[in-house]
Amino acid sequence: MAEVYVSNHPLVQHKLSILRHVDTEPKKFRQLVRELAALLTYEATQDLTTAPVNIPTPLTTAHCRELLEKIGLVPILRAGLGMVEGVWELMPSSEVWHIGVYRDEKTLKPVQYYNKLPVDPTVQVCMILDPMLATGGSAVACTQILKNWGVKKIKFVGLIGAPEGIATMQQAHPDVPIYLAAIDDHLNEKGYIVPGLGDAGDRQFGTG
Ligand code: PRP
Ligand code: URA
Repeated sequence: MAEVYVSNHPLVQHKLSILRHVDTEPKKFRQLVRELAALLTYEATQDLTTAPVNIPTPLTTAHCRELLEKIGLVPILRAGLGMVEGVWELMPSSEVWHIGVYRDEKTLKPVQYYNKLPVDPTVQVCMILDPMLATGGSAVACTQILKNWGVKKIKFVGLIGAPEGIATMQQAHPDVPIYLAAIDDHLNEKGYIVPGLGDAGDRQFGTG
């Protein structure tokens, strides 16, 4: 069963409360998405593999550790885009691979529309970035794309998850841990997370 980590860090919870507010305008919303993504990355990267490295300091040699694995950040378009910069700040040598998936408004099923992954995987670890885990359809589809690509270590980093989407993801991909800032109550009849924050894509890009 995939593990689900919910950050109770005070900074995460404080920023999430502003993010949810109906009056938070797109500029502030984008800033918060970026900051929350960085804070959650700290939690989601605790088990990355490191290797010893000798570093010359001005005085002597320090025995340090450096990241061993090549990391791929995989934002699900559109809403995941806003999380990239926050994660990239912490891991600037990560590769970014975009996957386009939107939910059909009527069926709520994921529709893939963009994928330019090369034939062979170029990274060992992928972090899927998407603020909302609602029905779970988009996350499940994106994870399957990455598994088909050949990536073995995959993590899902989101902001808010619904119990329904978490269960669906856990069932489909029990090997993929999920990192969130909150688990909300339920999905409404239109598939929106309640209480949620509305449409994460529209609120970032001013398209609502
Ligand atoms: C939103 C969100 C997720 C998806 C979650 O994207 O960013 O990708 O819905 O819903 P699910 O768990 O039920 O699949 P949306 O389809 O609205 O596209 P957008 O980001 O382009 O606005
Ligand atoms: N996508 C969103 O942006 N918000 C939701 O509540 C559900 C899916």
